[in-house]
Amino acid sequence: MNPSEQSSISQAPTERHAPIPGWILGLGIILSFWAGGYLFFYSGGFRGDVYDAGQITWGPVNTGPVVPPDPKVIGKRLYTANCAQCHQASGLGQAGVYPPLAESEWVVGSKNRLIAILHKGIAGVIHVKGNVYNNNMPAWGDGAPVQLKDDQIAAVLTYIRSDWGNNAGPIGVEEVAAKRKEFSAMTNPWTEAGLLALPEDSTTPPAPTATPPAKK
Ligand code: HEC
Repeated sequence: MNPSEQSSISQAPTERHAPIPGWILGLGIILSFWAGGYLFFYSGGFRGDVYDAGQITWGPVNTGPVVPPDPKVIGKRLYTANCAQCHQASGLGQAGVYPPLAESEWVVGSKNRLIAILHKGIAGVIHVKGNVYNNNMPAWGDGAPVQLKDDQIAAVLTYIRSDWGNNAGPIGVEEVAAKRKEFSAMTNPWTEAGLLALPEDSTTPPAPTATPPAKK
């Protein structure tokens, strides 16, 4: 054996911990933010029965007929989670800052305009029950920070039209879906003038009805 070859093995390798590579750290940080954001938006207040009234829970088992969830009950939960911090549980809002929903002409009036408000929000001056507000109402449609689905918007609107002495009819999922399409290209929130320019009732043409064949 060549002695010079032997001497090239200068030292036995020592064991030491390699530092965590930067990209793994970076990926970890990005994932934590993503996970945090996901929980923030989709945790539903960490309540298992928020969107599903039939959720299995502890306690006596209901073996009766399955009752379809009442949109008003779901709507109230959505209201508490998303709207009450501004409009208050009482629906009375906060003088000068957040307008009331109780007995508001925007809530119990035109469905068309009410659905429009939820999809795109409002900016600037708006008159509610004779008072002026000049603030911002967040949007809840496509592109909004917190997006509600058609059935959720329908449920929350059906709820606010029926509590606090309000007594207006329900809002259907199809109506909300139609407006989502109609306003999909809109990027700015509504102004009061823009809302008032909308027809009071939906302009969606009624579905063509089959004409009965003429009798011979
Ligand atoms: C961050 C506070 C805030 C939240 C959350 C909020 N709103 Fe509003 N909302 C406002 C403000 C402010 C206005 C008035 C806008 C203006 O001054 O231009 C308004 C206006 C409205 C109006 C029209 C005026 C009226 O009083 O009838 C309706 C309807 C409405 N909001 C419903 C809702 C619903 C339903 C939710 C929950 C999905 C909600 N808002 C969540 C602040 C909020």
